[in-house]
Amino acid sequence: FFQVPNPINEPIFSYAPGTKEREQLANKIKELRAQEIEVSMRINGKDVRGDKKIAMNPPHDHKHVLGYYYEGGKKEIQDAIDSALSARKEWASLSWEKRAAIFLKAADLSATKYRMELNARTMLGQSKSVYQAEIDAACEWVDFLRFNVHYATQIYADQPISSPGVWNRVEYRPLEGFIYALTPFNFTAIAGNLPAAPALMGNTVVWKPSPQQIYSADLLMKILEEAGLPKGVINLVFADGPEAGDVVFGHKDFAGIHFTGSTKVFQLIWQKIGNNISNYKSYPRIVGETGGKDFVIAHPSANVPALVTALIRGAFEYQGQKCSAASRAYIPKSIWSATKELLIKELATIKMGGTEDFGNFFNAVIDARAFAKITGYIDLAKKSSGVELVAGGNYDDSKGYFVEPTVFVTDDPHFVTMEEEIFGPVLTIYVYEDSEWEKTLQLVDSTSAYALTGAIFSQDVYALSEAAKVLENAAGNLYLNDKCTGAVVGQQPFGGARASGTNDKAGSYLNLLRWVSPRTIKEVF
Ligand code: ALA
Repeated sequence: FFQVPNPINEPIFSYAPGTKEREQLANKIKELRAQEIEVSMRINGKDVRGDKKIAMNPPHDHKHVLGYYYEGGKKEIQDAIDSALSARKEWASLSWEKRAAIFLKAADLSATKYRMELNARTMLGQSKSVYQAEIDAACEWVDFLRFNVHYATQIYADQPISSPGVWNRVEYRPLEGFIYALTPFNFTAIAGNLPAAPALMGNTVVWKPSPQQIYSADLLMKILEEAGLPKGVINLVFADGPEAGDVVFGHKDFAGIHFTGSTKVFQLIWQKIGNNISNYKSYPRIVGETGGKDFVIAHPSANVPALVTALIRGAFEYQGQKCSAASRAYIPKSIWSATKELLIKELATIKMGGTEDFGNFFNAVIDARAFAKITGYIDLAKKSSGVELVAGGNYDDSKGYFVEPTVFVTDDPHFVTMEEEIFGPVLTIYVYEDSEWEKTLQLVDSTSAYALTGAIFSQDVYALSEAAKVLENAAGNLYLNDKCTGAVVGQQPFGGARASGTNDKAGSYLNLLRWVSPRTIKEVF
């Protein structure tokens, strides 16, 4: 079979003032704001509308209506499963090259014809700044599609040895049944990759996106179909989570779940699958990316400006709503005042507002529920003794769900905001005695149940290497002298362990291997 050349990462457009891309994107945003689109589910290649009409609003301008989607229920989930199961045979037996070509075409369409609209929908529907939308909905989505094809080629090519008179081979078959993709609001790329990766490997999928991402999910689906994805291969449904779960996890042909979302929901799903385990045809694959309480630890030798940039970008890009976002930091006393001073100075320059103004670094959090949760933690921290507000702390939901980038410093390394996932723009710092570096490393490791990302800042190579060793199990993605967010497909395979997920590394061959059930054949001739 053919070899896909090593893909390169999709280049990032700057959208700098005066560029034609900036003008095109601004026009697309204007055009979309002037419309109210109607979004249907896509089951077996057809538009399907449920009974419940639900408005989609920009989180930064929640009275504006972008359009409506129509939520279905158990019947539509059952129809989507039936559609996936009946499409499976033909899709699975289609040659691998034909399947790959569809996803490569979807990548090209996303990088060119639909790039502006993908970004505009992500900026409006999920309140991403122009840069955050570009690295997600344009670049990372395109990268997933192209790199998946590249890695799949390697998987299919990996064959056992044979001997004279004996030909051994392995067929990487899709799983027997259907895959359920349950996807998050915070990355358009992840939402698209969760159904696309299993589908590339020959599986058929029922895809239920987060309600807050339906506005961009609708376009991802249209792109995949325009690229030639046959009907029934990916079925897009909108439904209440537990109601959909009852149908999906109760089905004997349920073959696997590709999930990104909260730890709590993932654990409930796992239990539900466990309770049904004897009813399934095969043991389902459970692949999940869940929560994080991601850390930054600085050694006394750390470069302070680099550290401050990592704290601000790591904690506050996309309003701290990346599972990888920095939310607890450990700074030695000797560099704390310089760090604090620079942090306050830099944070004062951050512009907050709607995504339509490309100068805003910081936008709104996703919805009223997130706003209430995040501000609840801020209020608690403000009135707790031993906790000092360093920056931010204000919030206002009159127009959009705006919460200032907020930094606290606490004298208790186990204060609630050092331990619990907030999923918003709140960073808590613990200042440790320089002499307690080793003890602090142990503290970082033992404080959180999660192990997604972490960053270590040190110009002392021995300290850096010691920290990486002690924190061996504390993060699936560890960054040395860099921020803990922004893994790039093909460069930093992404995923966490412990309560953060099954660590199946999105954007690598490891993830794709979960979507095949190999058959070994020995032929004697
Ligand atoms: N892959 C995303 C990041 O690394 C979550 O920030």
